[in-house]
Formats: sequence, structure tokens, C-alpha cells
Amino acid sequence: MAILEMKNICKAFAGVYANKNINLSVEKGEIHALLGENGAGKTTLVNILFGIYTADGGEILWKGKAAGFSSPKEAIAAGIGMVHQHFSLVQKMTVLDNMILGTKENGLILDRASIEKRIVDLAQKYGLTVDPKARVCDLSVGEQQRVEILKALYRNAELLILDEPTGVLTPQETAQFFDVLRNLKKEGYAIIIITHRMSEIMAISDRVTILRDGRQVADLITSETDPAELSRYMIGRDLNEHYDITKPAEEEDVLVIEHVSLPRKHKGHPLHDISLRVHRGEILGIAGVEGNGQKELAEIIAGIQQQGSGKIKLNGADIGKESAKKRYESGIAYISDDRHSDSLIVDMNITENLMLREYCHEPYSHHRILNRKAMVHDAKRKMEEYQVKASGNSGINTKVKLMSGGNQQKLIIARELSDKAKLIIASQPTRGLDIGATEFVRRMLVKQRNAGKSVILISADLEEIMALSDRIAVLFGGRIAGILDRGDATVDRIGLLMGGVTGEEGRL
Ligand SMILES: Nc1ncnc2c1ncn2[C@@H]1O[C@H](COP(=O)(O)OP(=O)(O)OP(=O)(O)O)[C@@H](O)[C@H]1O
Ligand SMILES: [Mg+2]
Repeated sequence: MAILEMKNICKAFAGVYANKNINLSVEKGEIHALLGENGAGKTTLVNILFGIYTADGGEILWKGKAAGFSSPKEAIAAGIGMVHQHFSLVQKMTVLDNMILGTKENGLILDRASIEKRIVDLAQKYGLTVDPKARVCDLSVGEQQRVEILKALYRNAELLILDEPTGVLTPQETAQFFDVLRNLKKEGYAIIIITHRMSEIMAISDRVTILRDGRQVADLITSETDPAELSRYMIGRDLNEHYDITKPAEEEDVLVIEHVSLPRKHKGHPLHDISLRVHRGEILGIAGVEGNGQKELAEIIAGIQQQGSGKIKLNGADIGKESAKKRYESGIAYISDDRHSDSLIVDMNITENLMLREYCHEPYSHHRILNRKAMVHDAKRKMEEYQVKASGNSGINTKVKLMSGGNQQKLIIARELSDKAKLIIASQPTRGLDIGATEFVRRMLVKQRNAGKSVILISADLEEIMALSDRIAVLFGGRIAGILDRGDATVDRIGLLMGGVTGEEGRL
């Protein structure tokens, strides 16, 4: 019998359906994948289940009984756990304190020793190794995610909702994470997982439900389908993953980094003696296990952090001391991997977010007076060109926080790939995008390359790096472990460098 049945679920925002007559049933011991384009209604559906939104219509049966949770608290009490894409842990607190936060069972005196034992037992049982005494801010993203899952298990969840859980994980972490899910499945837990990666759906799920424009278009048994069929249901066509990287890059150096180091300050990774060149018309891929200095390297080039020593030159001019704004004006664009803290102001609308870089220039402002008409015109054009879907009918006036995750990402890309950009730092540019949008963004980056611009592509996705890069530099421990030409780069060679094994390639 299904542990969960959602029947004819409907939910509209401002008159537009985000979910229309959706049926979803999940059994104990089943891993059920939800698939669909950005904005298709996946998060909305699980938010209804978890009591964040109330459905306009339909019914939910939980363990055979009619249920409708009016808050996450009620959903948790009933045995449903959810891990959001943006984690909700208190960074300064320990793992143990995060676990018991908001639970009432502790009585007057907190028996930390027995709570710790319960956490360690749970962790061991499912392979979720983590130290209960560690502070969350000291943990890697993968470890924080384990804490989120442990937290749900500690609260006796029987069904786990995972909204894009692998987006922030490295391939190794994803493999470990899937082992955990298999253990949970064996113990009879029910799992709903949202992911855009076909390989993951094929590897981990038993069934898959596909949404399109808020409607349910297919309900398939995973072993009876394949990625091509899933793609057709989802975007109505096959993917074309051939990218034109044939024209050779030019000799001219656009960016030159010489012996740049960054001492360890408060947080973040130190960088040691980085030297790199990026040519005109080239995509330089930066591979590496996340957290090996990628973010710091991007921020040093974009001017968000100052390098400790060494030189950074853009078209021959030393820009090492210039502000981030000045560097943007000189042609450095930056697609950051953290859309909420670095790139968007989510309480502002689409037009305003698209204008964050340019509002003080002609034609958008004249003698310090904003030209709304020019902004609106530009915003509409960009939304169309980059296929940004807003919520409901509010178009360019939609507040960014109401947009789906993938559409927020498209908005940043639309803003940063301007005519002005000469060097584009693209950090995890396709994270959270559906397969159609991913293909589109990759094509846009290649188009920029072929038009004579330079791109630094930082990605945790090795396939993406290998498909798009002219050369690949591998970062390990804040150093460049090696640089490979497109033709010489194999998964094995990059993998070795990513693990810090430098041989021949160790020399620059
Ligand atoms: N609180 C809200 N107010 C208004 N519109 C909303 C709200 N929440 C979601 N929407 C809209 O509902 C639609 C479905 O969004 P949802 O977040 O469910 O998509 P998704 O399938 O999770 O997409 P993604 O893959 O990009 O995360 C979108 O058009 C979104 O803008
Ligand atoms: Mg979503």
C-alpha cells in the first residue's frame, strides 16, 4: 500500500497554475523521482506536501488517512522530513544542537550523552558519518547535508523529501549520498527526490513522475525507460550536446595571472603561487574538488577579494588594486556559484536585478534620473532571449524570490553575458538548470568564445568542463596541480590531478 497518495493536487499563483491535477503516490521502500523543466512545479508540489503551501484543491492521503499539513511542524510530527536546496542549519551551533533544535522530548534536563549516542547510532546505521560535536560552519557541504538527513531521521521521518540534493555535491559525495539512500530504502523509508540529472534518476530511482508547465505528463517505471525518453517527455525533444569548439583560440592574452597568492584570513582557502593565462577566444576550464580554492580564485579575478601578492593583468593593464566595479567596467563579468548571497537581491524584481550592474549608465539613467522605459525594454528583451520564466503573469515585475531556482539562475546569466563582457568568470553556471536550459547556457558560453571573448569556466561537473574547455587547469589545495590541453584531457588524468597526484602535468 502506498504510504503517500497525493490526488488531483492544484495550486495557482496569481491565477496561473503551478500544479494542475497532479497525482503522486509513493510506497514504503520506494525512491520516487520528480523531473521537469525549471518552473514546472516540482518544488511547489513538495512544498504543499510539507505544509509550506496549502493546495487550492485535491487531497493528500498519508498512511491511508486524509491529511493536509498546515505547517512544516505538523508534517514533521506526522513523519515527513524535508531537505531544502538551501540548508536550514544554524551555522554557529554544533551538529547535536541543530538536531534537537525545536524538539520537545528532552524534558528539563538535557541528557546530551544519550542524545549523542542516538545520533551516532543513527549515523552508523546509515553511513552518515559526522561528528555530533562539530560546529556546522566547519563542515563541508556534503557533511552539512548528512546533518540535514540525520535531523529528519532523528525526528522519526518515514518519508524524506529531497529537493535537488546533489546540486552542491561533488561526484564522490554524490556516490556516498546514493549509498545512504540505498540503505534507507532497504530499511523501508520512502523517498521523493528532485534532480535534473538523468544519470542520477536512472541510477537511484524506482519510478519517475514528469511535470511540464504544472501538469503531469508521465509516470514511468525507471527500469523501463531511458534518458532519451525522459528528455522527450520533459522538453519535447532530444538533446543536442555537440558544442563547436573547433576554431582555435587566439594567441593574445586577455588575462594574465602571475604568482598570485592569498594568505588564509578568516574563512576560505588560501591560494599559493597561481599563474595562469587566458587567451582571447578561449574557454579555460577550472576543474577540482570543490573547496580547493575555486571560489577564492574567482573572487580575486572579479575583485571581490584582494590578492595577497602577485599580479593580475587584463589586456596588459595591472588591475590588481582595482575595485570590483571598476573591473566590471573594464569587461570582467562574474556568474557566481552562490546566487542568493552574491548575485541577486531577491526582494527586488526582475528588471531591477537585471539592472544592478548598469543602472547608472546611459541609456538607463541620464543626469542621475532613471529611464524606466529603457530598463523595461531591455528587461523584456533579455527575459525573452534567455527564456526566463517568471511567476504567474507579473512578467518583469516579478520579485525574484517568487521565481523557481533555475529561473533565478537564468536571470544572472542574462545580466552577466552583456556586450561589455570581455572575460566571463562562470562559476557553476548550469547548477540547478534543467537539461534544456543547461544546453542553452553551454551554447551561450561557446558562442561568446567563438565571438572572441574569454571564459573561465569553474565547474564541479567534469563532463561539462571536458565538453567546453580549450584547456583545463586543475586546482588542488589552492595550487594549480596541472594544466591540460583539450586533446590530452581524459577523466583519469584530470582525476589524478584532482586528487593532488602531479606527474608530468605538474609543470606549467
Ligand atoms: N510563492 C510563490 N508566489 C508566486 N509564484 C510562485 C511561488 N512559488 C512558486 N511560484 C511559481 O510557480 C511556478 C513553479 O515553481 P516551482 O518552484 O515549483 O518550479 P520547479 O519545478 O521547482 O523549478 P526549478 O527546477 O527551477 O526549481 C513558477 O512559475 C514559480 O515562479
Ligand atoms: Mg525547484
